[in-house]
Parts: sequence; C-alpha cells; structure tokens
Amino acid sequence: LAGRTALITGAARGIGEAVAEVLARDGARLILLDVPSAQADLEALAARLDATALPLDITSPDAAERIADAVPALDTLVHNAGITRDRTLAKMPADRWATVLDVNLASVLTTTDALLKSGTLSHGGRIVATASIAGLAGNAGQTNYAASKAGIAGLTRALAPKALAEHGVTVNAVAPGFIETKMTAAVPLFIREAGRRMNSLGQGGLPVDVAETTAWFAHPASGAVNGQVVRVCGQSLLGA
Ligand SMILES: NC(=O)c1ccc[n+]([C@@H]2O[C@H](COP(=O)([O-])OP(=O)(O)OC[C@H]3O[C@@H](n4cnc5c(N)ncnc54)[C@H](O)[C@@H]3O)[C@@H](O)[C@H]2O)c1
Repeated sequence: LAGRTALITGAARGIGEAVAEVLARDGARLILLDVPSAQADLEALAARLDATALPLDITSPDAAERIADAVPALDTLVHNAGITRDRTLAKMPADRWATVLDVNLASVLTTTDALLKSGTLSHGGRIVATASIAGLAGNAGQTNYAASKAGIAGLTRALAPKALAEHGVTVNAVAPGFIETKMTAAVPLFIREAGRRMNSLGQGGLPVDVAETTAWFAHPASGAVNGQVVRVCGQSLLGA
C-alpha cells in the first residue's frame, strides 16, 4: 500500500484501530476519523502511526466536504464506524432505530456518493464497508442494527458494478462475526459467551482478523474482487 492514502472511520478503537495498524504496516498514509469525543485516543493513535487525525461525526451534513478538504485524493475509504442500540422490536423507541440507521447506513451512502461524485476517490480506489453476520442472518434484539448492516450488504452489491464502471473503484464489505471489542464487551454475559462459542473455532475473533481482510480488499492486486461481502466469523452458526 506504499504511496496510497486511506481514510478509516471509527478509527479511535476496536476494529478501526486494528485496520489502521494493519494498513500502516502495509505502507499506507492514513487519515483517521472518529467522533470529537474520541479525539484524545484518535490523536494518540495518529501520533503512533504517523497519521492525520480527523475528529468528525460521520453523520454531520458536511462530513464528505470535510473529508474532501482534509484529503483531496483518496485511494481507500474504510467505512468502519458503527454503533448498536439494542432493543426488541416491540420496545424499540424511534430514536434508537433512527440513530443506528443514520450512523451505520445513511452516512455510508451519503459520504460514498459525495466522494465518488467529487472525484475524491481516485481511479483504482477501494471502498471497504463494514457489514455484520447480524445483517446477513438477523439477530434477536438487533432489528435496527441488522437492518442497517443488511443495507450495507445490499449497498455493496448494488454499487459495485456502477462504481467500477464509472469511477474505477471497487466496493466490498467485511461481515464480522463476534469480535472482542468494547462494542461486544457491552453485551450481557450469557449472550456474549454464546456469541464467542457459536463458531467452528469456539472463540471470539480479534479486531486484527477483520483488519487483515480489509487490507486484502484494499490491496492494489485485489482489483478483480468487487461487490463481495466476506464473512470473518470463524464459521459462525449465525446464518450458516
Ligand atoms: N465487534 C463485533 O463483534 C462486530 C461484529 C460485526 C460488525 N461489527 C462492526 O464493526 C465496526 C467496528 O466495531 P467495533 O466492535 O470496533 O466497535 P467500537 O464501538 O469498539 O468502535 C466503533 C468506533 O466507531 C466510532 N463511531 C461511532 N459513531 C461514530 C460517528 N457517528 N462518527 C464517527 N465515528 C463514530 C466510535 O467512536 C468508535 O471509536 C462497526 O461498524 C460494527 O458494527 C463489529
């Protein structure tokens, strides 16, 4: 990835932080984006990886413009920022539904569209989005999250041929299973333990597992891989 520039959203911790470490290891120049409240962690990581920190909420109406200002030519865009606001559907307040759909799906759609149209994403570029096995299989108590991640899988498949034909950019997604991060640390103990064990490896995955697949999509040699949603889940029972 030497000579290539990558922007990672939600980079301050968890999977985003691991993606930053792996892409930096492979030679990319990085712009690391996360919410302003995570600025201290973001700047510490940026200093460690000789990267640029961009404190910005990806749902801001001017997010794409701010990204284009910070990086006029982008080779790889990793949409990793994501949140959960779990509730069973009958008890789901409208704002929990809307917030998850906004962060996980709408922001990906609007920033991708704007950055392709403005030509910020270079020819030969890569977009890597983050789905989830919950979006492929559904998951009790996560209808909002699963809908947003199913949307990412659909967006990836629908946009890929058009983005390649019109902009020379590939669009792919990772669909992680249970990965050990702060997001899954918040899951109640019994469900968390089941999530860890319900796969062929009998353990939770690590952020680096997802990061290595993201780096493979980002690689210049992966140009023939387009419109794919790759599960990184240790062969999880969910959706098997
Ligand atoms: N951990 C898992 O098991 C798992 C499984 C499947 C999919 N995923 C997905 O992987 C991605 C990363 O998850 P994680 O486990 O590292 O979560 P995490 O909560 O540890 O990290 C998410 C990061 O995204 C940032 N973020 C949230 N909202 C944002 C916004 N509006 N603008 C900018 N940044 C924002 C957060 O500040 C945080 O740094 C998410 O899209 C998540 O849905 C995670």
